[in-house]
Amino acid sequence: MKFFVDTADIDDIKEMAETGLLDGVTTNPSLIAKSGRDFMEVTKEICGLVDGPVSAEVVALDHDTMMREAESLRKIADNVCIKVPLTIDGLKTCKALTSDGTMVNVTLCFSANQALLAAKAGATFISPFVGRHDDNGFDGMELIRDIRLIYDNYLFDTEILVASVRHATHVLESAKIGADVATMPPAVIRGLFKHVLTEKGIEGFLKDWKTTGQSIPGV
Ligand code: E4P
Repeated sequence: MKFFVDTADIDDIKEMAETGLLDGVTTNPSLIAKSGRDFMEVTKEICGLVDGPVSAEVVALDHDTMMREAESLRKIADNVCIKVPLTIDGLKTCKALTSDGTMVNVTLCFSANQALLAAKAGATFISPFVGRHDDNGFDGMELIRDIRLIYDNYLFDTEILVASVRHATHVLESAKIGADVATMPPAVIRGLFKHVLTEKGIEGFLKDWKTTGQSIPGV
């Protein structure tokens, strides 16, 4: 399972990249606004920090303007992945861009039928928003299960990128279902490393080690 970080904060991205476990980055217009940075400039900087896909979202609603925005965005770096909304114009844009070899992430997916359409449009990634789905009284994980089943039925290559992840259980359930990617806020990724018994265990081992009066040679 690939791990993407869902942020436009450079310090957070650097910290995650240094773990060696980061496979990509997703941004959206709200995250760009939160960063307070110029869209093109911050996207270019992010693309230089990771080898994997960096999603940058179009903001137009019509196909022609989406294509023009995508043209500009894909010049930023080879690892830019164009993010388009799950609308008719978004999927037309997806089809045109992927036919041309450009990576596309179809975002704001809230139903398995939408995911089926995105796969037919050749999407590289489909982004079902599990947290927002849960918030609205639906079951985000049921959506991931349905998409996995449909994609496996028809051997679609589109990767399921679980988005709007709120907590570690979303990550665990996504991994059990076989989702391809989870994009997570930095705090959720940090939380995955932690367990109270790991901390307690380290504390106990170090306490006992101290009683030996030894050190590891050369350190
Ligand atoms: C994914 O690409 C989106 O940027 C993101 O996961 C949205 O999450 P939110 O519901 O926390 O805003």
